[in-house]
Amino acid sequence: MKILAIESSCDETAAAVVEDGRKVLSNSVATQIKEHIVYGGVVPEIASRMHAEAICPVVEKALDDAGVTFGGIDAIGVTYAPGLIGALLVGVNYAKGLSLSTGLPLIPVHHLRSHIASNYITSPALEPPFLCLVVSGGHSHIVEVKDYTRFSVIGLTRDDAAGECMDKAARALGLDYPGGVNLDRVSTDGNPDAFKFPRPKVDGSDYDFSFSGLKTAAVNLIHNASQKGETLDTADFGASYINAVTNCLCENTVKAAKDYGYKRIVLAGGVSANSRLREKMKEICLQNKWELFMPELKYCGDNAAMVGSQAYYEYLSGNVASLSLNAYATMPIDEQRN
Ligand code: KG4
Ligand code: ZN
Repeated sequence: MKILAIESSCDETAAAVVEDGRKVLSNSVATQIKEHIVYGGVVPEIASRMHAEAICPVVEKALDDAGVTFGGIDAIGVTYAPGLIGALLVGVNYAKGLSLSTGLPLIPVHHLRSHIASNYITSPALEPPFLCLVVSGGHSHIVEVKDYTRFSVIGLTRDDAAGECMDKAARALGLDYPGGVNLDRVSTDGNPDAFKFPRPKVDGSDYDFSFSGLKTAAVNLIHNASQKGETLDTADFGASYINAVTNCLCENTVKAAKDYGYKRIVLAGGVSANSRLREKMKEICLQNKWELFMPELKYCGDNAAMVGSQAYYEYLSGNVASLSLNAYATMPIDEQRN
């Protein structure tokens, strides 16, 4: 079964053709980094406009690269939640138009579910159940993936997401958007113990995260240093900060894996590209003799191949939308609204 998938939840307009959930026939992405870089972050109104401009050529390129026309496509998958509402609406309405004109079924895909599915592309042998740490710009979740379309959230952030936390510190350090990637790059040779950061604890849960205190501590340190005319060693600062964030992510994931009895751990989301997080998780899983799965770097960030993968499993479980499908800025991963 060949699915044409569309993704427009944030700042990448993407389309892909994926066969049977695992085989990527094409993966076309138009990034908006250049448009948002001057503002230091994503400007929602600009994102929506750029999606509207890019969606036709991106979809055409995905079909061309896969060597198919609509006659060779079996269904259309689209990200419908969560994300920037104006941005999501571009993809959802375009997909609805395609579904109406071609008669192909329309499959609604939750953005975080698709991030998890990026692992099905990278690791063809991977099947649920497993425990997944989903870390993106807007979300930090520890999720039980019971089946391809059954999820149970064990832990989540009470305030900022891990990606947001990386981006804000990077921006205070004067690094360009997208901050997390650049922070990772400049910290490679830094000393992770050079700076001490608070270890946030969350009342009432061993699995939830809280990153806002860590983020404020970092921003204050940077601003205080600049007010005193001191220069911080960016590599050491970045490495220490990433170390603090990834320690929280890893500790809670390990606790959840032990308490819930999971020996198969999966990473997903934009922050899963972080080199320190990947290394730390590798060590932990080696020590505990757990299996570890991580998306290939090109599938960590937003892309439509992962949407095509998850759409296949949504379709198999009967999740097909009508043309009244809407987009939603927020939606829990275990919810479905057609
Ligand atoms: O999943 P994603 O592409 O978009 C959302 O769904 O939010 O995640 C984007 C987030 C951004 O905060 C970005 O800075 C972060 O992922 N990110 C990274 C790295 N690559 C992307 N954070 C740390 N290290 C990286 N290498
Ligand atoms: Zn994402």
